[in-house]
Amino acid sequence: MAMPDRSSQDCAGSHGLTVTCGDNGSMFSSPAERCVAPTGPINSTGGEAADVLALPTRPLLTRRKRPVWRDFCRHGIPEYLAHYYWWAYLWKPGIRFFDHPLIINLVLFGQYRKLTEQALACLEKRPIGRFLQLACVYGSLTSEIARRLDFEGLSIADVSADQLGVTRRKLAIDRGPDSLPVDFMRCNGESLAYRDQSFDTALLFFLLHELPPSARAAVLAETARVLSRGGRLVIVDYGSRAPSHLLHRLGPLRRIHERLEPFLKGFRQADLIADIEQAAAQAGTRVVDVDETPVFGGFYRVVEVRFGI
Ligand SMILES: C[S@@+](CC[C@H](N)C(=O)[O-])C[C@H]1O[C@@H](n2cnc3c(N)ncnc32)[C@H](O)[C@@H]1O
Repeated sequence: MAMPDRSSQDCAGSHGLTVTCGDNGSMFSSPAERCVAPTGPINSTGGEAADVLALPTRPLLTRRKRPVWRDFCRHGIPEYLAHYYWWAYLWKPGIRFFDHPLIINLVLFGQYRKLTEQALACLEKRPIGRFLQLACVYGSLTSEIARRLDFEGLSIADVSADQLGVTRRKLAIDRGPDSLPVDFMRCNGESLAYRDQSFDTALLFFLLHELPPSARAAVLAETARVLSRGGRLVIVDYGSRAPSHLLHRLGPLRRIHERLEPFLKGFRQADLIADIEQAAAQAGTRVVDVDETPVFGGFYRVVEVRFGI
């Protein structure tokens, strides 16, 4: 199994593969608590008397120096995910709140249905084969993939055990008893725990805009590596032409949006196809075809990329 060393760090400061689970969905955490911040001195006075009394040196109310997001920085969760998105993807009440059709539709400005249908239409244009969905998504997309598409096997990878748990529960409810088994893998997309060329089709649904540039490059390189020759990558995400969109011209809305999504602006400005070409070259292949469909006036896009044989 190829497990390349990657540059982006998780909270533990470690590289690459963090955690995996098997077919049965059981999850194991590797260097779990390594990301806990080093403990500083307990008191500043030192000496025997102070040790015995163990008096706090700061008033109780000011003792929490550690920001909340650091509490989510464990079990190999990448630092950017804990820092900027703990409330949306790692905090259980947040997960319960967002994984609701109404809320996710609101987050996507009423376009959830359209984006889902467009993604499914794009996927079923050609044989899907072995299918990887990299990162869990809120709403019904994964259930619809499992129910409506014809694939040889479905693997779902995510770095968050809670997200995988939610997806497993949704699939267990929505799929019939005769359906194909789904493989769940807990791992960082920057260092996927799959062999080279394990899949024929991969889907990244609103993942890339949430990643800092180095993590984005690593995720694309890893996705290209695990795709077979002649494989397909389908990306559903924000569009690059968005600055001309009415929603984008509403200054306060744009500022709130970009505050909540700190890597979105960079993602919109980046040349996604050039980044994929670079990832393909790293994986020893090349891009042979790109098909881009704007959604909601180009605010979003569905991109299908085919790699050479
Ligand atoms: C796909 S994105 C956004 C989905 C979109 N907002 C929605 O729900 O429709 C959210 C998921 O990406 C996962 N994720 C973020 N960074 C990741 C990484 N480096 N590797 C694997 N999963 C990651 C999070 O754990 C979360 O489950």
